[in-house]
Amino acid sequence: MQSINGWQWEEYDEVVSTNDTVRNLTNKKDGAKYVVTALRQTGGRGRRGRSWVSLEGNLFMSMAFEAELKNVGQIVFIVSLSLLETLRHLFPDINICLKWPNDVLVNDRKISGILLEKGEGDYIIAGIGVNIAAAPKIDGLVYPAQSLADFGFETGRLDLFRAYLQTFEANYKLWQEQGFETIRARWLANAKNLGKEILVRMNNEERSGIFAGVDENGTLLLERNNNLEKIYAGDIFCL
Ligand code: BTN
Repeated sequence: MQSINGWQWEEYDEVVSTNDTVRNLTNKKDGAKYVVTALRQTGGRGRRGRSWVSLEGNLFMSMAFEAELKNVGQIVFIVSLSLLETLRHLFPDINICLKWPNDVLVNDRKISGILLEKGEGDYIIAGIGVNIAAAPKIDGLVYPAQSLADFGFETGRLDLFRAYLQTFEANYKLWQEQGFETIRARWLANAKNLGKEILVRMNNEERSGIFAGVDENGTLLLERNNNLEKIYAGDIFCL
């Protein structure tokens, strides 16, 4: 175990899922912040029961820290905004934006995935995958996956990890000191489709309307028939 910026860090060659590995570290419930990275994942998980194809050369990292569960909706925004800001800092010309709830798109292609889960005790786990070197070819996606390398942006896996951890720390501190407003404003300033007509695909239903913003829990606000409807989970598409 190494210490990095106040985090207890373990790097592995191969794990099933870095979210599971970091969860095991939090069994001690000692309040420390843990982060796990791995070269390979054999059972990477995505949102909504999907799997995360984990190609070698990409970043797989999971952070575990104590936080109140009721704040998870805001923390997702800190996690994704921090990734956008890290990549923009590394590559100032990058065409990057955020897609609710937690996707980071480069040239309208999905280059990363973020999965927040409840950990042991008061721990929250934030898992991040970034397609640095390669992306799986999956047919039929509206926002196909691509890698940073596909667009000519080169970075080392651990360089990106270290830079990300620093940005996340700074943004998390900002949130603790000032609350959600600044994070929400910065997130929305980079949001795809804000003010535009979108289609939201939920488990059993689709709804279209104007993407009007997000509330203080990170819930999407959809304007339909002069009403603001709250969307708690789903995938959005531009119409
Ligand atoms: C998604 O877009 O559906 C979220 C994908 C999250 C993938 C990352 S990779 C590191 C961590 N370990 C996992 O098993 N999943 C997350």
